Amino acid sequence: MYQLSPSILAADFAVLSEQLFAVEEAGADMVHIDVMDGQFVPRISYGMPVIESIRRVTKLPFDVHLMVAEPYRFIEDFKDCGADLLTVHAEACTHLHSTVTKIRQCGMKVGVAINPATPVEVLRHIIGEVDMVLVMTVNPGFGGQKFIPNMLKKPGMVKQLAADEGVACPDIQVDGGITLFNVGEILKAGANNIVAGTSVFSGDIKANIAGFKEAFENAAK
Ligand code: DX5
Ligand code: ZN
Repeated sequence: MYQLSPSILAADFAVLSEQLFAVEEAGADMVHIDVMDGQFVPRISYGMPVIESIRRVTKLPFDVHLMVAEPYRFIEDFKDCGADLLTVHAEACTHLHSTVTKIRQCGMKVGVAINPATPVEVLRHIIGEVDMVLVMTVNPGFGGQKFIPNMLKKPGMVKQLAADEGVACPDIQVDGGITLFNVGEILKAGANNIVAGTSVFSGDIKANIAGFKEAFENAAK
């Protein structure tokens, strides 16, 4: 029911394949891959060639978070390099419905992300078409930032919106500043897919992931 998607933005890229083995072995459910374009967000991270290379070293599904302006332009490229779930920002798409439709037509699962200042309401006419909503709990662009507590209300609002629209609630992913200390309240708030970068990759990856799994078990009780 609950899933962990470690964000490789916080990994040691010099030994990325070893770190991917470690997260897979420790029981991560997918791999979160943050693609930044230097325009929608200030930084540039990595793109298709890196994804294509790491596709060969793990069987885990690739959860690709595009922090890219007008991502419609690159949907087929991300399919070709191995994305399983492609998430675009509502704020970055002039034609969000077309973008979501094309991602699905290309055979990927589709997510829509909203920044901290973006109201859940922007999802009203698209919520029935998506597999996942990504609630950003920091402003996108950097790893290692502080969780914004006010975002705890958004998973419940997403659930309410789905109910109002009479559609099944998509998965609710949260991303940014999530640690073993705050994950419990975040799960309680209604999120079921947790992205964690720093709190998975700093220190002992195996122990960190075991900590998240334990939090998932406690939340399911
Ligand atoms: C932020 C990215 C996050 C980031 C999370 O723009 O979308 O996925 O890697 O990193 P932590 O868990 O360190 O906040
Ligand atoms: Zn992310």
